[in-house]
Amino acid sequence: MSALPMAPPPSAAPPSPATSPARAVARVGFLGVGEFISYQHLPNVSLSAVGKVHAICDLDERRLGAHAARYRPAYTTRDSARLLADPEVDVVIIGTKQDLHARFIVEALDAGKWVMCEKPMAETPEETRRVIEAERRAKGRLAIGFNRRFAPAYARAKRLLATQKPPVYINYRLMFPSPQKDVGFYAEKARILYEGTHIFDLVCWLLDAAPERVYMTGDLTRNNVCVLDFPNGSRVSFICGSMGSYCLWKESMEIFTPYAAITVSEFVDMRVRGFPGEFDAFYAPHLGQYAEEVRRHGLDFYEVRKCQEMEAEVRALKMPWEQAVRPGRDFGPLPAPMNGPSLLAPDKGWKPSVEHFLRCFLEGTPPRNADARAGALSTDVALCALDSLAKGIPLPFAATALPPAVEKR
Ligand SMILES: NC(=O)c1ccc[n+]([C@@H]2O[C@H](COP(=O)([O-])OP(=O)(O)OC[C@H]3O[C@@H](n4cnc5c(N)ncnc54)[C@H](O)[C@@H]3O)[C@@H](O)[C@H]2O)c1
Repeated sequence: MSALPMAPPPSAAPPSPATSPARAVARVGFLGVGEFISYQHLPNVSLSAVGKVHAICDLDERRLGAHAARYRPAYTTRDSARLLADPEVDVVIIGTKQDLHARFIVEALDAGKWVMCEKPMAETPEETRRVIEAERRAKGRLAIGFNRRFAPAYARAKRLLATQKPPVYINYRLMFPSPQKDVGFYAEKARILYEGTHIFDLVCWLLDAAPERVYMTGDLTRNNVCVLDFPNGSRVSFICGSMGSYCLWKESMEIFTPYAAITVSEFVDMRVRGFPGEFDAFYAPHLGQYAEEVRRHGLDFYEVRKCQEMEAEVRALKMPWEQAVRPGRDFGPLPAPMNGPSLLAPDKGWKPSVEHFLRCFLEGTPPRNADARAGALSTDVALCALDSLAKGIPLPFAATALPPAVEKR
């Protein structure tokens, strides 16, 4: 008897793109290409060696026209069903606002695609359940856009923490004025859900655990302080909102273990203390022409330049310019030309998170991105925090209520 594998019968169905991609690049269909996707995932995929912009769907004809001219996809469409039914689309990236996430995730997974969706994964427990069920029956994989897992400084913090024993205390700040979110879609939405979920996912991932108690104060839509208690004695304090100054960078993280500490300012300046053989680092490759100056002057340079870049925006808000500048620090006028996205946009892991997912599709390997269970966990923590806010007390959080993780080959 021959030991050679038998060829498939001629009538066999063609291999599903969800299971056996025999190609060098993943063909991506974009569903919803508004502000964020136009700024990150679309240009990143178009420049990537492992992805190709195959199709673009949006309701906004003007955006479709501009993107068609720039990225030359096979087609653009206003019809999401056309994109999802296209057998040439391997991976769907969903970038609509959150009210459509659960619906489009379920439709795209059921269409046999690998799916990456922006955060939050879902807005309600009902939506969460539907997404988890869809992921369980799907051939493809689901990734939620919690890109911070792929930010170089945070990935290193995770590796360093693996050497430590609990308890771990984390203090996280995510604060930056965003008056544009006080109107329109986000006016009535809770920031702790649409933005805070990023940090709930991050700390659960860093600690490899889910909280057992959640407490939140503040208001319903904009500014909050949260405290999360974890079963092993670890704790997180998290301040999240739209206050502060344009002068100060948006995000900082401080991590403490009994004899070691890590701080990361705006994803760039990482200080590592008490880990033998480990040193501080500057994660600045994306800073291009500014990298050397940021290194020399630290985040002072970063702050001053960022304010200069935002001058038009600050003036449009009718904020006195004096409130947005730092007296005593002057690095001269902005070098010209400053076209395109700001060089000071921090490296939050957007590009590597997408490229990793596309590579896993091509290789047929399980991605390290946040899956439906992680998406559910972060939404559940945010909803529990909102419940705690309404009741004015800390609430027990039962992550065990979540279904077990999906095992797929
Ligand atoms: N990961 C991050 O760092 C990050 C940062 C910012 C925003 N986001 C997320 O990105 C998502 C989009 O945010 P945004 O600010 O770009 O919003 P946006 O409103 O600018 O973009 C949404 C787009 O979806 C399109 N759309 C709506 N309904 C559609 C439909 N039925 N079919 C096809 N297209 C449709 C809209 O026309 C619009 O162009 C949100 O979920 C947000 O939370 C993530």
